[in-house]
Amino acid sequence: MSNGLVLISIGLSDEKDLSLRALEEARRCDHLHLETYTTKLDTDADRLGRLIGKPVKQLSRINLEEHSEFLLDEASRSRVGILVGGDCLTATTHVSLLIEARRRGIPTEVIHGSSILTAVAETGLSIYKFGKTVTMPLPEKGIADAVLETLEGNMEQGLHTLILLDLDSEANKFVNINQAVETLLKSGKPEMFNPNTLVVGVTRLGSETQQIRADKAFNVSDIDFGAPPQALIIPAGLHFVEAEALIILYGCPEEAIKDRKIQSTSEKLIKKYVESCRRVLTNLKLKGLPRSVGEPEVNELVDHAERYLSDAIYYASEKRGTALSSVSYCEGILDAMRLLGLVEFEW
Ligand SMILES: C[S@@+](CC[C@H](N)C(=O)[O-])C[C@H]1O[C@@H](n2cnc3c(N)ncnc32)[C@H](O)[C@@H]1O
Repeated sequence: MSNGLVLISIGLSDEKDLSLRALEEARRCDHLHLETYTTKLDTDADRLGRLIGKPVKQLSRINLEEHSEFLLDEASRSRVGILVGGDCLTATTHVSLLIEARRRGIPTEVIHGSSILTAVAETGLSIYKFGKTVTMPLPEKGIADAVLETLEGNMEQGLHTLILLDLDSEANKFVNINQAVETLLKSGKPEMFNPNTLVVGVTRLGSETQQIRADKAFNVSDIDFGAPPQALIIPAGLHFVEAEALIILYGCPEEAIKDRKIQSTSEKLIKKYVESCRRVLTNLKLKGLPRSVGEPEVNELVDHAERYLSDAIYYASEKRGTALSSVSYCEGILDAMRLLGLVEFEW
């Protein structure tokens, strides 16, 4: 293509992470821009330009998010490459740019690269067991509610949680692992995160100075992880190979793994419901029978069953384990009505 927009992934750390394909494509571009606000790289526009053999202009956040117009104009007339840290499609901004280019009939191309989203597998934690990823925002940008919700949702499903730690390269600010651990400790949800929670801190993965540390939150909270980018992982239940990797490869103390009482939210709910049902069954008393039941009472029960079913559908759409208990309530009410001879149906 003679004109068009090419998203070029740089990879995890510096210009040496560019693939040969990325280099080749960058060299074919008429204009090159570097976007570094979505992650922190150990390189800059000059170093990339020297390797590619063409000038590279630094893009500001405003250029890309609000003034993408000029990039698209440029790409309608010439071949424009945007160099992005990590893999270029791990931030929604870049997908939006591709969509907008296509809407205007501008050809697009994507060159993939290494990313934090797969590099976390170096910890030994299975990449297939990671749930939804979430970002811990800079304190001035918001609160960490979404982090706790994501952690809870992932824990419910027995999945590890990758927490990206927000940064603002232009303002030279970032959330570090210690701050993230402290925020979670202060969240007031000790059943989800407490000083004994196993955490894995990763910093500058893919660089010569990378660090991976696995320990109880309490012990990790004062390790100095140095410069960004940093990320925090909260593992769910561990397969023995995952546990071995943390112990042997990263010196994780065995008690940090053994002391854990990993109980998924569903396990907690099961325990709670089993206990309360047992208590009720032990203590229940029959109430002055026989009693007459009319249509309003039956309709009220059907109404309850309907509401439990709607709850179940909603929780299922949110991928929450409580969907199962809601649908079981509905089933229980329907069964009870049938056993009392109030309604007719077949499962
Ligand atoms: C918005 S994400 C962008 C990810 C990037 N496009 C990629 O595919 O790797 C940026 C966040 O990922 C994490 N991160 C990125 N590179 C990292 C690295 N090499 N080591 C540790 N964390 C990293 C940091 O939490 C950082 O704030």
